[in-house]
Amino acid sequence: MKMCDEAGAMAAMRYTQTSVVTVAVDSMSFLSPVHIGDMLTVTAEVTWVGRTSIETRITVTAEEVMSGKVSHTNTAYIVYVALSRDGRPATVPPLLCETEEDLARHQRAEARRALRLKMKESSG
Ligand SMILES: CC(C)(COP(=O)(O)OP(=O)(O)OC[C@H]1O[C@@H](n2cnc3c(N)ncnc32)[C@H](O)[C@@H]1OP(=O)(O)O)[C@@H](O)C(=O)NCCC(=O)NCCS
Repeated sequence: MKMCDEAGAMAAMRYTQTSVVTVAVDSMSFLSPVHIGDMLTVTAEVTWVGRTSIETRITVTAEEVMSGKVSHTNTAYIVYVALSRDGRPATVPPLLCETEEDLARHQRAEARRALRLKMKESSG
């Protein structure tokens, strides 16, 4: 989970070129076990941006190095907020949607965001 947060933060920081802070972590399911000696690969990409927030998708795979068998361990969505030098939320550049798949992905991200904000509201 720590590696996921670090990878997501790197993707968000690379995108915004500011520091970021983690604001929300979606539920994380572990689909298959990771054994001692497995090689983990953690990849992160920016999937959506708002005014100051950035959603990232993090994918983890584990490779059994002797056999080369790769399994998908988990996928997580983590949201960050870009910070200005004085530590306040900073506006981020818009994410361009160029293809129909980009638009569909954007809509799925909007639905996840609506759910997160609803959960935040009901827990606060
Ligand atoms: C993150 C933080 C700076 C935001 O400050 P804030 O005054 O709440 O700012 P806002 O209410 O304007 O929220 C900023 C953005 O975060 C989004 N956000 C806030 N809570 C959210 C949640 N639970 N899920 C998804 N997005 C959320 C808002 O929708 C807004 O997005 P937008 O600008 O893209 O529309 C502040 O809440 C904070 O410092 N939290 C603690 C962070 C922390 O300690 N993290 C752990 C260690 S890294």
